[in-house]
Amino acid sequence: MSDLELMKLAVEARKASYSPYSNFKVGAALLGKSGKVYLGCNVENAAYTPTNCAERTAVFKAVSEGEREFLAIAIVGGSGEEPADFCAPCGICRQVLAEFCEQDFRIVLGTPNNFKAYTLAELLPFSFGKNDLE
Ligand code: THU
Repeated sequence: MSDLELMKLAVEARKASYSPYSNFKVGAALLGKSGKVYLGCNVENAAYTPTNCAERTAVFKAVSEGEREFLAIAIVGGSGEEPADFCAPCGICRQVLAEFCEQDFRIVLGTPNNFKAYTLAELLPFSFGKNDLE
């Protein structure tokens, strides 16, 4: 699957965003090694802290359905009808991705018209992970 196709799926996922408090809508499309794509959106809460980001929604959907290995994620976000230029994943989502993804896992940011791919190693350098516990 191309980065552009994954970006377009993230735009679709963003339409389900439940974000009445921030009005910032985020969508994510996570590509598993099986070829299956898991969509996620941010899901906010009146108590604020239970809010779940789009990226984690996608990861938790995938893992709960039995998939634990991933190739790439596309992320789109913004307050308007269309996604804004760039929405980088928050630190908690980077750490959750690091639990299941390799250093060369691709993180595609931007919009379908203007996007750029980064590796997990670029966005979460010098990270703490399962190898530190062995
Ligand atoms: N949000 C995400 O879903 N993913 C990100 O990468 C950044 C932030 C959500 C959380 C919250 O619902 C809203 O965007 C504003 O922070």
